[in-house]
Amino acid sequence: MVAGQKLYEGKAKILYTTEDPNILLTHFKDDATAFNAQKRGRIVGKGEINCTISSHLFQLLESHGIRTHWIEQSSPNEMRVRSVKIVPLEVVVRNLAAGSLCQQTGIPLGTELSPPLVEFYYKNDALGDPLLTLDRLRVLNLATPEQVSQLQRMAEQINQHLTAFFQSCGITLVDFKLEFGMEPDGTLLLADEISPDTCRLWNQATTDPAERVMDKDRFRQNLGQVEEGYRQVLERVLAQSIDG
Ligand code: C5P
Repeated sequence: MVAGQKLYEGKAKILYTTEDPNILLTHFKDDATAFNAQKRGRIVGKGEINCTISSHLFQLLESHGIRTHWIEQSSPNEMRVRSVKIVPLEVVVRNLAAGSLCQQTGIPLGTELSPPLVEFYYKNDALGDPLLTLDRLRVLNLATPEQVSQLQRMAEQINQHLTAFFQSCGITLVDFKLEFGMEPDGTLLLADEISPDTCRLWNQATTDPAERVMDKDRFRQNLGQVEEGYRQVLERVLAQSIDG
């Protein structure tokens, strides 16, 4: 499909207009960044891998009644999506403690969080995507209290479906980040991507803390074999049917 005008270029994706004003084209790049773009690199094949994994997972969630922006994967590294107004929040779900949670609280890596933790971060690069309290969310007025409750419920449901799916792939879903879009009538739907860039995924075949990592932590922590980690996730995801 022919891309139209470039609407927005982010760290990992480019958004283009299409001939249909309700549809956008997302192009997935091989570029990788971490720590608010302080670390930069390139993961060969990442664009195609992340586009394909995201497309598979969006279809899985749609099959469970979760509304998403995904329409179709139109090429190996491009997907057509519904044009929505992105809610400037990053919704993080954590099943096991890792990353910033461990750094900021001292909770040991891998501690089970039951029920899972759902956190809201302000999507704002200049401010470093700060963690928000419910009161700060209210003051910022980024979403109504009803929409915040709905985001929390959707994140919990998505977590249940993704956790079960990755379990069937022999992968533990440690944590992940979601973004949501709003349609003109206020309906919320899942947007952005779900990929090894936005999830922590641990290979259940090993307990070795470095070996088990299949996600962007391989890049963040200089663990090597970044592309191999992503490719293994792709292979296992594609080997499972999306009926859940
Ligand atoms: O860094 P932190 O531990 O808070 O990240 C939690 C989860 O959210 C990780 O899976 C990480 O990959 C994802 N994340 C993301 N984009 C961000 C921040 C976090 O995909 N801007």
